[in-house]
Amino acid sequence: MSNTKISQLFDKMANVYDQWFDDNPRVVAAEIAAIRQVTLPFNHALEVGVGTGRFAEALGIKLGVEPSVAMANLARARGIEVVEGFAQALPYADVTFDTLFMITVDCYLEQLTPVLRECHRVLLPSGVLVIGHIDIDTPLGALYQAEKEKDVFYRDATFRGTNTIIDKLKQTGFEVEAIRQTVSTLENIDHEVRFGHGDGVFVALRARKC
Ligand SMILES: C[S@@+](CC[C@H](N)C(=O)[O-])C[C@H]1O[C@@H](n2cnc3c(N)ncnc32)[C@H](O)[C@@H]1O
Repeated sequence: MSNTKISQLFDKMANVYDQWFDDNPRVVAAEIAAIRQVTLPFNHALEVGVGTGRFAEALGIKLGVEPSVAMANLARARGIEVVEGFAQALPYADVTFDTLFMITVDCYLEQLTPVLRECHRVLLPSGVLVIGHIDIDTPLGALYQAEKEKDVFYRDATFRGTNTIIDKLKQTGFEVEAIRQTVSTLENIDHEVRFGHGDGVFVALRARKC
């Protein structure tokens, strides 16, 4: 899907997207906990594809890049400074941030490698990239893939497995330091956060710029 079509989708569906967080507080709590477990203290962080700012607000991230105006406006209402732009061309100078976050954005990127290179460019030496993603190589991930045609948000998604993400991170000059997984059913129940990957459909990982 082109960047323009993705922006149009999220412009149209911003409120529906945002409502999911209110409807699934225990799933959201597990995903935030997984991201927290791989996050180190930061001074200057950016969330790439900040969406409506739910993770940014919870994690204390003050700045985001987001192509959808409607999503960006909801994030701004949560106190996040949002710059309109795309992950493929981040509007920042080289070596700017100590930490980048990119949470459930990779499935909207047909090509992940150029975006990882762009993240590498704007990170300080030894800076870290925290990724949250839907792991297709899990039982629930397989269901997402099988049923994606029925889901307006995932119809055109490019889902990946965690091993694919790790390989691409290595190829673009990152070293993976920490991985957590959570959410193994679609129910809004308490979900445990565990080390590694392969079961939980939501995976959080931290990669350091080498
Ligand atoms: C599933 S939402 C996730 C939003 C937020 N990170 C969260 O976890 O709630 C995906 C977001 O990625 C954004 N996005 C899609 N393609 C992008 C791109 N090329 N560059 C930056 N953001 C993008 C969408 O506009 C949308 O806000």
